[in-house]
Amino acid sequence: MRAYDAVKPALFALPPETAHGLGHAALRLAQATPLIGPLSDRLTVEDPRLAVEAFGQTFPNPVGVAAGFDKNAEVPAGLAALGFGHVEVGGVTAERQPGNPRPRMFRLPEDEALINRMGFNNEGADAVGPRLAAADVSVPIGVNIGKSKSTPLAEAADDYRYTFERTRAGGDYFVVNVSSPNTPGLRELQDREPLARILTTLQEAGAAPLLLKLSPDLAAPAVEAAVELADELGLDGIVAANTSVRRPDSLASPHRVETGGLSGAPVETEATQMIQFVAKRTDLPIVGVGGVADAEGAYEKIRAGASVVQLYTALVYEGPTVAHEINAGLLDLLERDGFADVESAIGADL
Ligand code: FNR
Repeated sequence: MRAYDAVKPALFALPPETAHGLGHAALRLAQATPLIGPLSDRLTVEDPRLAVEAFGQTFPNPVGVAAGFDKNAEVPAGLAALGFGHVEVGGVTAERQPGNPRPRMFRLPEDEALINRMGFNNEGADAVGPRLAAADVSVPIGVNIGKSKSTPLAEAADDYRYTFERTRAGGDYFVVNVSSPNTPGLRELQDREPLARILTTLQEAGAAPLLLKLSPDLAAPAVEAAVELADELGLDGIVAANTSVRRPDSLASPHRVETGGLSGAPVETEATQMIQFVAKRTDLPIVGVGGVADAEGAYEKIRAGASVVQLYTALVYEGPTVAHEINAGLLDLLERDGFADVESAIGADL
């Protein structure tokens, strides 16, 4: 039995955001003390077969932390010490904003899922940017950029640019998030014209590598159009996918009725299918995210075309050793199937 299995019932007795705050506090403690060395030694799987080169970054392993877990870039070093190969911080917006009223995050334990309607609660680019620039982290750091709630959709491009300019010093790659379901109208920015304006504005400001994060709720032609645009504009990658507003019939938890984005096990297959769909249409690297909770799930996304994967919900259900377990398991799966390394397995199922 893992230590986390003993702690989990107590954590799950707390409201999700309180438990999240405790997790953050533990990571801050680890970061601020000599604990971080032994923690990292214990949880990092160091093996050259796990390393991936994608969009100009060297990822020591393919398992990253998805956006939303460290919205204010407070614990990237702590997360790296848990054995993650990259951390995507944010969503950061130009303005500091409180997000939606609580409760706004719900556990669906029967479904190993979460529903959230956080609404981009974050301290804003002026606070997050300098903190990120001062952070000392050994793995690539992505910055997930969202739109401030009060900024009209027509002025979105400048809002995204402002956040990029404030966070550029600390970020290794940048993700345009037009796919969160929790900011009114945001997902309309996935349409060609407004999307092109945001992406070209960021490119002119020097944003690189620049990736686009898509919603799993987009219909196939809209995904095709977005990927085509990303290719046309010379973007550096696609992140697939964000949370879903769909509610599969399989959901058993009473919280399934909550408004917001669904993540975790119920979105896993759909996200993998989306990765495969995107990979068949572009050579751009793909960051695969949605329901990854074990080595098999990470491996499936890699074989479907993801260069690296990310997770959030599995940190809640599997605990802080999840990256270690996935990386160790991936090595076994590579060996079983005769792949020399992760890079050789990328897109094997295409
Ligand atoms: C998220 N996610 C998210 N995505 C994003 O692009 N910007 C954000 O600010 C957030 N915020 C956020 C908060 C919470 C509480 C959750 C659970 C999720 C989405 C996340 O990055 C990821 O795309 C999905 O959660 C699917 O992955 P998992 O959770 O199934 O591994």
